[in-house]
Amino acid sequence: MSTRNFYIKTYGCQMNERDSEAVSCLLAEHGYNSVDREENADIIILNTCSVRETAENKARGKAGILSRLKKQRPELILIIIGCMAQNLGERLFKEIPHLDGVVGTDRLEQLPKMIAEAAGGRRRQTELETAGEINTALSGHQSDISSPTAFVSVMRGCNQHCSYCIVPRVRGPEKSRSPEDVINEVRAVARLDSCREVFLLGQNITAYGLAEARRRGENTIEISPIAELLEAIAEIPGIDRIRFTSPHPRHMNDRFIDTVTRLDKVCESFHIPLQSGSDRILKAMKRGYSVEDYRRVIKQLKSGMPNATFSTDVIVGFPGETEDDFKATRELMEETGFDMAYIFKYSPRAHTRAAEMKDDVPREVKEERNQILLKDLQSRAGERNQLYLGAELEVLLEGPSKRNPRRWSGRSRENKVCLVEASDNPRTGQIVQVLIENVTESSLFGRIV
Ligand code: SAH
Ligand code: SF4
Ligand code: F3S
Repeated sequence: MSTRNFYIKTYGCQMNERDSEAVSCLLAEHGYNSVDREENADIIILNTCSVRETAENKARGKAGILSRLKKQRPELILIIIGCMAQNLGERLFKEIPHLDGVVGTDRLEQLPKMIAEAAGGRRRQTELETAGEINTALSGHQSDISSPTAFVSVMRGCNQHCSYCIVPRVRGPEKSRSPEDVINEVRAVARLDSCREVFLLGQNITAYGLAEARRRGENTIEISPIAELLEAIAEIPGIDRIRFTSPHPRHMNDRFIDTVTRLDKVCESFHIPLQSGSDRILKAMKRGYSVEDYRRVIKQLKSGMPNATFSTDVIVGFPGETEDDFKATRELMEETGFDMAYIFKYSPRAHTRAAEMKDDVPREVKEERNQILLKDLQSRAGERNQLYLGAELEVLLEGPSKRNPRRWSGRSRENKVCLVEASDNPRTGQIVQVLIENVTESSLFGRIV
């Protein structure tokens, strides 16, 4: 019985999605075969997230089920990789008895070797060391992409140490790739047929290159290596749109804002994590900016790019969050006018500073605050989309809509999902002008003009 077919299930953020894609390419290079359904796999890899307890519990639940499946299919290889692997390490073997291996975030290139040894009968392997360097083995992209967007990771890790966050622990300190490395990868994806858009990734992407510049003795207040990188990428033929995530308000200086508002290829949509609208809570979170700083960034972006839309991340129920703090968050969200937001209920994470504070906001209050913000967003979403009625938007086509195959789904530069009456032979990666004729809370509907 050969063990060649693998299936990767991914939890967590876009950086994990990107790692899974690169791991798939690496395994394919080693002769393994990616399958779409876990039933057809001899090797199942869970790429995991630790950011909240619920994220870990999801992967744990899944691993438990797969571990039982191994009783019926002992040849099945089960490996946990990514952030939870880094966070919990060998403890996972106790929790999940039939687990074959655990691979941390800096050792993903070891997977082919680990799988080969597991197939040879070696049990309970670990690869958990952290590296000071970025891993260059992980730059593969799937060439049969059915999406016009290629994700390119420009840095790993985070130095920010927000008091609630486990990411610096599981992904290590910031490590930026060299501009040449990133540019070569973008050039390579630009050659893929359907690829028109590049989405740059980093947990703290506006800190790109800053640690390195500091080591060279440069004053980093006014420079923006990420802005320089965006300028270089904007020169690459075949790439029409550039997006990135997540910028940090702390590093969004004038150099950065001037660049993103000036470059035509940078899309009019920004995800800027806010976390809280109360200065007291921002301070306890160690975010490194004030409400006024956040307002300034949004104001500058809006004045340089009047069509820009904004999305954000917010945590409710951080230790000590009062009704007044929450009210301040709600008001700032209203004032900014986010088109979309991820709202998270605070979840204490071991080894973080906030875990030493009392998790004193009751669960029901977290839930209630969560619901209030979601409702605010929903009631605004419809109104905001009304503004696009009769407008002509540039839409990048992704593929046929799942609900109605006569329509194609795509995204406008403002990151609005647009459903377009299909013309003759639409293609993934085609850019069309669309007249918006109808809107709902979640999508815009129109026809090609
Ligand atoms: N690097 C990004 C996002 C990192 S994780 C940033 O700086 O904002 C994604 C989101 O998860 C965070 O923005 C935060 O809103 C949320 N998050 C992180 N740790 C959390 C925790 N302990 N409890 C609840 N939400 C958390
Ligand atoms: Fe976590 Fe803060 Fe780093 Fe974002 S910036 S990954 S929230 S420590
Ligand atoms: Fe989760 Fe790791 Fe991303 S902890 S949010 S998958 S960096």
